[in-house]
Amino acid sequence: MALVISIPGLVRLAIVRDPDELLRVNDAGTVTRPLSGRGGLFNRSVAAKLAAFRTADGDIWPAFRDRHDPLRAAHQTKLETTLSNVEALLERIAPEIAELGDYVGGGHAHRNMGVVVQQAVGRLFCANYVASEESYEAARTLQAWLSAWPLRACWIKCSGALKASLDRIETASQRDMACAHATALALENLVKSTELMRELALHGDNLAKIEPPEAVIRTLRAPARVVREARDGDFIGLLRLRSRTLILLALEDAHQRHARNLGLAFFAGAWNQCPAHGLVPALLGKVWEAAKIRAERRA
Ligand code: HEM
Repeated sequence: MALVISIPGLVRLAIVRDPDELLRVNDAGTVTRPLSGRGGLFNRSVAAKLAAFRTADGDIWPAFRDRHDPLRAAHQTKLETTLSNVEALLERIAPEIAELGDYVGGGHAHRNMGVVVQQAVGRLFCANYVASEESYEAARTLQAWLSAWPLRACWIKCSGALKASLDRIETASQRDMACAHATALALENLVKSTELMRELALHGDNLAKIEPPEAVIRTLRAPARVVREARDGDFIGLLRLRSRTLILLALEDAHQRHARNLGLAFFAGAWNQCPAHGLVPALLGKVWEAAKIRAERRA
């Protein structure tokens, strides 16, 4: 059952961890992605953070767009079609996959693996996308902005780092907001999986014994949480939500309870399913395969 916290003037919050309840809440008509900022100080500060992902000309990053926004749905379908060309896209990013495989197999990294992941993800959109320490740092700043406590958030904003990072990511993405989302926010789950794969590979004879699909199941990580708001007061199953309650869907917790069901990590089958839900497991599988090949050559 969800944890509900309500302190007048301060916070109106529900944290949902149970997989079935989480899917029900995500699907409920009264639950929206855009945040009003009403419900308390905490609600206002979270809404202010997400507002940064709206560009000066009114474009909004896709994971913050409303469920009923026709542009969101059209972009999601178009990107999913593009990303379903899995073999050709993985071929395009073969050099990055080889570099990640080398690292997973115990090789010495010549550069930050986050940069390599960012370049791989960027190249799914644009074949000549080039990532750098600076562009990856911009992605890290945007991730930190989303989870920072007030003092740190204030520093990120007042120092100009937030604006500089948004500019860098959006420019590198050639103003394609799905590319911006993927190369700034979504990539971090792939970075985590790469690190977990390396840990898994370095243990005993795991690299020889474990096949790619099993390695993917063991290392895939979902976003820790996604944010919603209850527009109106309502019951969702047994959960009673007052209007303007901020909702944190603890997706990674839920995914860990059903780790063999990869779909939950991507909301597969839901209105907001990740357009990369088919490609990401294939990509991670290739990285593990590349690590295995490296180990066999060295044996
Ligand atoms: C391990 C890697 C990834 C995981 C676990 C993941 C998971 C998710 C989840 C859970 C959402 C829904 C978020 C919400 O409703 O608030 C989402 C949305 C999205 N993801 Fe991913 N993602 C991953 C990688 C990627 C990659 C590599 C791309 C692009 C190449 C991508 C593109 C998107 C886009 C564009 C959306 C927004 C969909 C919409 O229009 O509503 N994701 N992803």
